Amino acid sequence: MNKQEYKQAVEKLNLWAYHYYVLDDPIMTDEVYDKLYKEVEQYEEAHPEDILKNSPTQRVGDVVSEGFAKEPHLSRMWSLEDIFDADGLKKWLEKVYRLDSHVTFYCEPKYDGASLNLVYENGELQKGITRGDGTVGERITQNVKTIHTVPLSIEHKELIEIRGEVVIFKDEFDKINKERLKKGEPPFANPRNAAAGSLRQLDPSITAARNLVFLPYGVGVNTLPHKLLNDKMSYIYELGFRKPPLRAITKGYDEIEAIYERMKEERESYSMMLDGMVVKVNEIAAQIDMGYTVKVPRWAVAYKFPAVEKITRLKNIILQVGRTGVVTPVAVVEPTEIEGAVVERATLHNFDEIERMDIRIGDQVIILRSGDVIPKIVKVLTQERDGSEVKIERPTHCPVCGSELLQEEVLIKCQNLKCEARVVNSIIYFASKQCLNIDGLGNKIVEQLFNAGLVRSVLDLFSLTQEKLLELEGFKEKKAQNLLRSIENAKGCELWRFINALGIEHIGEVASKRIAEAFGLEYIHQNKEQLLTIEGIGDEMAESYLEFMRVNEETVVKLQEILRPVEPKKREEAQDNPFKGKRIVLTGTMSEPRPVIKEKLEDLGAKVSGSVSKKTDYVIYGEDAGSKYDKAISLGVKTLTEDELKELLQ
Ligand code: IVH
Repeated sequence: MNKQEYKQAVEKLNLWAYHYYVLDDPIMTDEVYDKLYKEVEQYEEAHPEDILKNSPTQRVGDVVSEGFAKEPHLSRMWSLEDIFDADGLKKWLEKVYRLDSHVTFYCEPKYDGASLNLVYENGELQKGITRGDGTVGERITQNVKTIHTVPLSIEHKELIEIRGEVVIFKDEFDKINKERLKKGEPPFANPRNAAAGSLRQLDPSITAARNLVFLPYGVGVNTLPHKLLNDKMSYIYELGFRKPPLRAITKGYDEIEAIYERMKEERESYSMMLDGMVVKVNEIAAQIDMGYTVKVPRWAVAYKFPAVEKITRLKNIILQVGRTGVVTPVAVVEPTEIEGAVVERATLHNFDEIERMDIRIGDQVIILRSGDVIPKIVKVLTQERDGSEVKIERPTHCPVCGSELLQEEVLIKCQNLKCEARVVNSIIYFASKQCLNIDGLGNKIVEQLFNAGLVRSVLDLFSLTQEKLLELEGFKEKKAQNLLRSIENAKGCELWRFINALGIEHIGEVASKRIAEAFGLEYIHQNKEQLLTIEGIGDEMAESYLEFMRVNEETVVKLQEILRPVEPKKREEAQDNPFKGKRIVLTGTMSEPRPVIKEKLEDLGAKVSGSVSKKTDYVIYGEDAGSKYDKAISLGVKTLTEDELKELLQ
């Protein structure tokens, strides 16, 4: 690589990263990106004098700082006035219209994260500063550089402050908390705390690992000529910043309410947490006229969404024993309505967590419900105690089978393989959708079969007969036949389903698929070395797999003889074609059965999935295409007819 090639490589990497992180629409594979990145690294090592400031290697913070220096903002960072309902909106609009009756409004999400000020000079990121008290913040530039959605250089060459919110996406938040719990660290209460905490790390490599996202919402000092906020923001996005999931220009009350309702509805499907919608006067001249109170602009307001946090009381703790024996405490709380759902249970993760929060029965607690995740207790109101609260003891014996429990790091486990809860839950898991997908074998039926003594292990499922089933309450001929047929249908299942259904700790759907692909029916007789060659399988997973196979070999062999799972077909690496590596969804009636078309596309190296998301590359549709087609259109996903598909392949 020479200097010219180095420069081009940096540009390429930045373009790919922009598509990946900002547009959420990758145009290159990770593999190719990593390869070029390594080459850039090598060049820089040999020619440190040539290193470009916007090289992606400059994002990895490797210098741990001792503290953060104070840094004044070039112009003040303001706060926002909150309103909570239609009445609040009306009153705010009246005030605005008194100052200027002709304005329109720009609406965008109110992100729930930590605010950040970016200073660019000569098109280069100079500083990243936390909000602090609005006048002076802390310089955290090294950390900010690790955020991929913050461009290190921009086309705009004049001095500009770009303000926005640093957030953690919901899925990333769940992942971080799972990892923290596993390590015995306290989980973050919400994505906001997680974002703020991650931003102020003395070691930038910690910030880098958290996958933070920067979402711009305005500018401080600037020389932008735009007369409308909407145009200003469009310009900012063009500079390489990430757009909000929804924004709109509205004329007045009715339109603001409509877009507020839409955002409230849609927000569960957004990647980031919102706590409201911000309404801003769109005309910059009017903004300047209206000015600020001591704390907030008169031209903007935060229209909050109804709280997803509620106060309730902890009534009791129940213990659940899962199929792997892990005993999980579940909080039973006084029924509380949160956003249309009545919440009665909340997760508590584990007993370390209970001790850390010092949570007691009778305590008032704050519960948080976000999206479809199970509500959780995020805070205990210890100041509200009256002394009647009762401490929660760690269990020493299994609540189901009574055998002694084992403390394994942060987990408490029932070791008894015959424990009813373990057996029942492992059968339920065995039959579940992501495993053998046996229809009609849900929680209730499994419990019934177990209690009647008909099923003591998954093997027993295969010796059930109509006569035996007919003895059970609620079973008539039809129901019995249906169940037997579904069990019979599980035979000849895909090998990965079989492996997944075994319920091996730490081995889930993805690992099962990879194991099936790598070893086929030889999956039983593998050693650690072999397992570790599979991407994504580490020490802990390999150990768990081997231990399971060692202890259960006999059962696994018997099950295999009964189920006769089929190995995946080995695919050869596809030649280059427009669908290689693309994510595709099929919908509607086509000239051939969909599984046939799926198979063909997979042979071309495409990934065919069942649901449309932003990440989908193409939706290929036939006659009577329905909601998947509509979703593709609304998300801007490319759609192709079957004929267009064939054309592209020629
Ligand atoms: S505008 C001059 N817009 O909310 C206006 N703020 O409660 C100042 N925030 O400190 C802020 N999303 O950190 C604005 N779309 C948005 C926002 C937003 C989140 C945060 C911001 C601010 C706080 C005020």
